[in-house]
Amino acid sequence: MVDMETLTSLCKRRGLIFQSSEIYGGINGFWDYGPLGVELKRRIKEHWWRYMVLSRDNVVGVDTSIIAHPQTWVASGHVANFSDPMVDCKKCKRRFRTDEFPEGTKACPDCGGELTEARSFNLMFETHVGATVDSGATAYLRPETCQSIFTQFKNVLATSRQKLPFGIAQVGKAFRNEITPRNFIFRSREFEQMEMEFFCKLEDSQEWYDYWVNERLSWFHAIGIKKESLRLRPHASDELAHYAKGCTDVEFEMPFGWSEMEGIANRTNYDLTQHQTVSGKDLQYFDEASKSHFIPAVVESSVGVDRTLLCVLVDAYYEDDVEGDKRVVMRFHPSIAPVQVAILPLSKKLDEPARKLRQDLRLEFLTDYDDAGSIGRRYRRQDEVGTPLAVTVDFQTLEDNAVTVRHRDTTKQDRVALDQLKQYLRDKMQEWK
Ligand code: GAP
Repeated sequence: MVDMETLTSLCKRRGLIFQSSEIYGGINGFWDYGPLGVELKRRIKEHWWRYMVLSRDNVVGVDTSIIAHPQTWVASGHVANFSDPMVDCKKCKRRFRTDEFPEGTKACPDCGGELTEARSFNLMFETHVGATVDSGATAYLRPETCQSIFTQFKNVLATSRQKLPFGIAQVGKAFRNEITPRNFIFRSREFEQMEMEFFCKLEDSQEWYDYWVNERLSWFHAIGIKKESLRLRPHASDELAHYAKGCTDVEFEMPFGWSEMEGIANRTNYDLTQHQTVSGKDLQYFDEASKSHFIPAVVESSVGVDRTLLCVLVDAYYEDDVEGDKRVVMRFHPSIAPVQVAILPLSKKLDEPARKLRQDLRLEFLTDYDDAGSIGRRYRRQDEVGTPLAVTVDFQTLEDNAVTVRHRDTTKQDRVALDQLKQYLRDKMQEWK
């Protein structure tokens, strides 16, 4: 399996991910996505949105503000409880989460220095809204995207013509002042989440929970993650929040061990009840059939975009030999690859027909154009950024109106007539294994 250092340097070299504010020495826990990274990320989010929202009758989307009324975080329990226990080393000044090392540890694991007493540290980033910086103006950058789904439940219900059971989905930024951000983009301080809250009757919640656990695992398969790299980990009863009836993590085998990608949870009717109590607004659902009012239960699916992207990178990384030449190849599934088709003219003299072809293909596919260096080097470059198919325009193209298509994984080549090319590319991507 690829190690994190190799992956991080590939990401930098190929314009996927850079350290944030690198020219100032960086800032811990923050990352910037480059030209290819932003495409990969966008495609993961779009795939999720199509799978979770656009392909279903009973899930709708929202896009809510990052800063919400501070009472939101009182009701959700984040103001009181969203904290990690931490200690500082008095000698080297390093900061640790106490749950990172064995209970009873008294000395710094790095330098042996004395540790401070454990204190609890709230992970929410505070800010101030308006011109005055007083405690009345304190607000928080959201640590998860789902709370506004709960606070907007009634508005969505009233305007979307949905009836139970139905879901509300959102993709957006979340912020946590993690004590020890690490493992590249796995645990950062600014990240994106894709969350869906599925509202249903309490008595149906177990059935929907089972349904969504399976659906969510299938999504990871649909973006091309190998089945053997994933597993489901149901939480033991002593891990569950007091209100939760069940929680299962989708875990992926990272270079640093099996790690949580996503949590699917049966949260009963806790969240809406909390917001109803703190806001004093009626958040009940009226059920026509039974003529009764009640607070719906919710099954949550919550996955990190950046964590999924890391999982995609680790899973796609391969090194192999092509005719005695070592190559690195990212085997991205065409449904999320940042470039789907590269157009490579064999000579600069073929610029005109090759660019014309690109103009035509880019209407339907994500394309790249590369005319620099030998064809072998260009293939390697495309392999390293995971482009599934490369189209070579050569001098014969001018005579036979055909091009050569090379497949990334097998390196096999086919000669394809230009008027068949789009259908050929479509078919190959559709049947991709
Ligand atoms: N609304 C439920 C919730 O936020 P969570 O387990 O705290 O649950 C859900 O977070 C997902 O968000 C995680 O499984 C992970 O993919 C992602 N995530 C959480 N903290 C993260 C961090 N510091 N950096 C990157 N991704 C994170």
